[in-house]
Amino acid sequence: MAMVHVVRYESPQAWAEHVAARFASFLADQPAARVALPTGATPEPVYAGIVEAVRAGVASFGRAHVFLLDEFGGVPPDAKGRCDVMLHRALLDHVDVRPGHYHKLDPEAPDVEAMCAAYDAALKQPLDLVMLGIGRNGHVGMNEPGTPPDSGTRRVELAPSTTQASVRYFGEGAALPTWGITLGLAQILAARTIWILATGEGKADIVRDVLLEPVSASRPASLLRGHPDCWFLLDAAAASKLPVGVLTRG
Ligand code: GLP
Repeated sequence: MAMVHVVRYESPQAWAEHVAARFASFLADQPAARVALPTGATPEPVYAGIVEAVRAGVASFGRAHVFLLDEFGGVPPDAKGRCDVMLHRALLDHVDVRPGHYHKLDPEAPDVEAMCAAYDAALKQPLDLVMLGIGRNGHVGMNEPGTPPDSGTRRVELAPSTTQASVRYFGEGAALPTWGITLGLAQILAARTIWILATGEGKADIVRDVLLEPVSASRPASLLRGHPDCWFLLDAAAASKLPVGVLTRG
């Protein structure tokens, strides 16, 4: 089995600082990298650090390509919880990604299937890095439990718990999405490097299950354990249910 790297950082602050610095040095090494980026609460402090690094001239997106990992459908395109809106707010509005170098998933496309096929065609050249959060049921992007590893970019129905969890992005009383579009597991698994980000004790159980229970499509993140360069980057709370033997200190 491929060796998964599991890195534990002492505090959420140390975690965010190191993951941002790791991303800045990744971009410095591979300035023309093609990267898929997640939204959600987890990466926000990392994006703040990356914005600082770009402002300080330590990193640049000038030649990079950014692919949006997933997007919610059936809610207004300017809703504050839309992934595109969240990524702009946290990162894209503050860094130097060229307009033609940002690739988003468009749930309003007249032909969603054709839009997804075009996304996958652009990803025939594999991504250099996929950064991911993790859902409490083990989903990555919107690849919910039961997703086969060869699935492509496509429209997906969200698990009811994922719809419920999205209230923290869209706000109380707002319409919540029941479907979305996600980068497929096939494109994620084809990437050269995968980083899975998790923080907080709310993620400790799923992180433990994904890493220690048998690999299974019932926890899609566990399928990433077979990837040759997969990194779980965790703060102490998210790593708190793992035995010390599997951890590297960050
Ligand atoms: C959401 C998103 C995922 C995200 C995950 C965790 O449903 N579709 O891409 O990684 O759930 O979100 P958070 O980081 O807010 O806990």
